[in-house]
Amino acid sequence: MTNWIKACNLETVSSGDLFSFDHETKKILLSNFNGKIYATDRICTHEEADLSTGMLNEEGVRCPLHLSVFNLETGKPQNPPAEKSLKTYNVKIDQNSIYVEI
Ligand code: FES
Repeated sequence: MTNWIKACNLETVSSGDLFSFDHETKKILLSNFNGKIYATDRICTHEEADLSTGMLNEEGVRCPLHLSVFNLETGKPQNPPAEKSLKTYNVKIDQNSIYVEI
């Protein structure tokens, strides 16, 4: 069963920003790239670095530890060493709040 969880207010995640939140055991990363909000798992699938300290670029979010870049739509790594995709989540904006479908 899925559930829409309020992550934060829209203005909390400006264009180019990363934002972290936890829900139960899940560690989620919100990314605002060019005004669009994406939600993925926050922990790198390679060696568990926290992607909230990474960087956004046109290819996705770059892991701070070994520099794999994960596509924000699909979660797929674009380069080694990571091989496994990040889980991605649906996002909706409602009344100036960001919701993530967990
Ligand atoms: S921990 Fe992210 S690429 Fe190695």
